[in-house]
Amino acid sequence: MTNASDTASQQDRVVIFDTTLRDGEQSPGATMTHDEKLEIAEMLDDMGVDIIEAGFPISSEGDFKAVSEISERSKNSVICGLSRANFKDIDRCFEAVKHAAQPRIHTFIGTSPLHREIPGLSMDEMADKIHETVSHARNLCDNVQWSPMDATRTEEDYLCRVIEIAIKAGATTINIPDTVGYTAPRESAELIKMLLERVPGADEIVFATHCHNDLGMATANSLAAVEAGARQIECTINGLGERAGNTALEEVVMALKVRNDIMPFTTGIDSRRLMQISRRVATVSGFPVQYNKAIVGKNAFAHESGIHQDGMLKNAETFEIMRPEDVGLSGTSLPLGKHSGRAALRAKLAELGFDVGDNQLKDVFVRFKALADRKKEVHDDDVLALMRDSASEAEHETIQVKFLRVICGTEAPQSADLTLTVDGVDQQTTATGDGPVDAVFNAVKAIFPHDVNLQLYQVHAVTEGTDAQATVSVRLEEEGRIATGQAADTDTVVASAKAYVNALNRLLVRREKGAPGEDVKTVSMTDSV
Ligand code: KIV
Ligand code: ZN
Repeated sequence: MTNASDTASQQDRVVIFDTTLRDGEQSPGATMTHDEKLEIAEMLDDMGVDIIEAGFPISSEGDFKAVSEISERSKNSVICGLSRANFKDIDRCFEAVKHAAQPRIHTFIGTSPLHREIPGLSMDEMADKIHETVSHARNLCDNVQWSPMDATRTEEDYLCRVIEIAIKAGATTINIPDTVGYTAPRESAELIKMLLERVPGADEIVFATHCHNDLGMATANSLAAVEAGARQIECTINGLGERAGNTALEEVVMALKVRNDIMPFTTGIDSRRLMQISRRVATVSGFPVQYNKAIVGKNAFAHESGIHQDGMLKNAETFEIMRPEDVGLSGTSLPLGKHSGRAALRAKLAELGFDVGDNQLKDVFVRFKALADRKKEVHDDDVLALMRDSASEAEHETIQVKFLRVICGTEAPQSADLTLTVDGVDQQTTATGDGPVDAVFNAVKAIFPHDVNLQLYQVHAVTEGTDAQATVSVRLEEEGRIATGQAADTDTVVASAKAYVNALNRLLVRREKGAPGEDVKTVSMTDSV
């Protein structure tokens, strides 16, 4: 049977050990349900993670069940469970992982002076315990990982001594945790180098690195350890984990891929799955990914400033060191905001299927800037909405909304003070209704009497947030003639008035043409309604 440790003997292959479901889930508040754990484990397995640490079986009945079921369902990954340095923990762990095609027992004990003090063990007593527990684990399972917790604050001589004991007792992987995220990259490398040089039998096993991010150096420390000879990186999706978290899986995978020139190591991870799993872990753990997070943050492949957008449009390498497709994104995002220029707006319009002339671009750009001043980010749908507005203006509508003020709230009736320009003449009225939209529609009818059926009134928040643009769709019917109007505005009632008037104008055109049953729709792009 081949396992991940065997493959790690290839000098350039780094084994990826994911502990999202164990160390990651230990983040206060990041608890996942049983089904969510199974789902994440399946995703990890599918994307090529070598070893999945699925939980800490003795810690709860739930963890035991999750590790057992993940083990049963595993396809390619080694499934590992965590256990403290006692037989009961180790037995329970094996009970859970034994269902896997490739099980691993991971057992640990704190070896630094601070951690030896807690159980009150002398150096010798702890050494004996390590020998007994690792031997016990190895009698149950061929694949045993041992960790001296707080290794980076453990005396070097003692660390060498206990690692030698663990290797002799049968450990196949020795993990070196920087439990408190204290180490720095150079030290991380020197520690692995020192262990490889000094510990008898070190060349027979795989050294792993397990770094926490308290000083923001977890990924750098992990990579430094690999350069010094470690061949297993322990990490989590999105860097989830205790306190400031762990080394982020997506960071090491992409760092090794992008900087293969100076770090010639490979992993078996399909990087195109990174974004998908990152988003799923963010959802199920309830830990959103910070916008500027490396690789998987919302802004990792987004450029808003005019200079950057212009550069990106000319050559993506000007401001990107990896392709968004490599992490599973469909492309770079050039979010439009108040810093964006005409080039970016024209490119966005082209991407959305609009071939605009200079004059139209000028017009849309003015309205785009006005919108960008009100909204933090202008999304594709906002631009589509702007174009819809532009298209309807181009129709030279008979009726136009000039002014609208509504009074609404808990006190009925709601009222609308509306001015419409009808054939170039302003007409004003105030009408009441059952809600502000009804009041607006009544006001339109009062100014421009008509008898039509309102077949549809629909509101979509086309972008996110309370400053989102609302797109309103209105469908009117008159003697079999149907016309649909749409409009967008950050004010839903204004969008409603404009959409109604837009539909009415189209109906008037239909009336003139006298062709029933055919809708007049001038804009046929990716309509959201
Ligand atoms: O950070 C740590 O030391 C751990 C051990 C249990 C490996 O997570
Ligand atoms: Zn840890």
